[in-house]
Amino acid sequence: MSLSDARQRLAVFASGRGSNLQAILNATLARAITAEVVLVVSDAPDCRALERANDAGVPAVALAPTEFPTRVAFEEQALAHLQEHDVQLICLAGFRRIVGRTLLDPFAGRMMNIHPSLLPAFRGLEDLAVHRAVLAHGCKVSGCTVHFVTEEVDNGPIIVQRAVPVLEDDTPETLAERVLVEEHQAYPEAIRLFAEGRLRIEGRRVIIRPAVRGDA
Ligand code: GRF
Repeated sequence: MSLSDARQRLAVFASGRGSNLQAILNATLARAITAEVVLVVSDAPDCRALERANDAGVPAVALAPTEFPTRVAFEEQALAHLQEHDVQLICLAGFRRIVGRTLLDPFAGRMMNIHPSLLPAFRGLEDLAVHRAVLAHGCKVSGCTVHFVTEEVDNGPIIVQRAVPVLEDDTPETLAERVLVEEHQAYPEAIRLFAEGRLRIEGRRVIIRPAVRGDA
């Protein structure tokens, strides 16, 4: 089997700016991880993430939720695209929809999400609302979490976390910016560990096997 055959086939789901998608694309293109993005899925037809996919020459599909009668129908369509592209791992990266069983069941233990806080703190909030809440609470550190996706929002087993200090003069925007820098490191790192076969889920915990010679 050639090296390229051994690369994990990723789908990235995104709804907006797509900077995490870009970080993942950059890591795959630089061969920093043995994975390739084979599909980008969005629920927002005009988003920047789709432009980034296009610029990188990656197949992308925009599925407008309003065109489907139910979430199950929406997810069945997404699943058909995932199967068509032989996707092995789904990375939710700023995807603003809650994922249901239709996608979760076939991808159990093979779907990740990134959240811009140190979970389990500040679960269930989105974007700047997370950072506003962190500042309002007076936290001294914040950060980001990559976790496996389960039915409970932002509550799956944690794979990677990276912390940043909260500064006295932070605004939600400046804190978001500092956390985002760490997100762009954390997501490729989590994918790398997955692609190297080093992650094992034990209940709530993700056990990371130490690297050995031969890991990519
Ligand atoms: C990130 O902060 C991510 O943690 C959150 O949504 C934001 C998406 O940003 N889930 P981008 O679209 O990847 O730039």
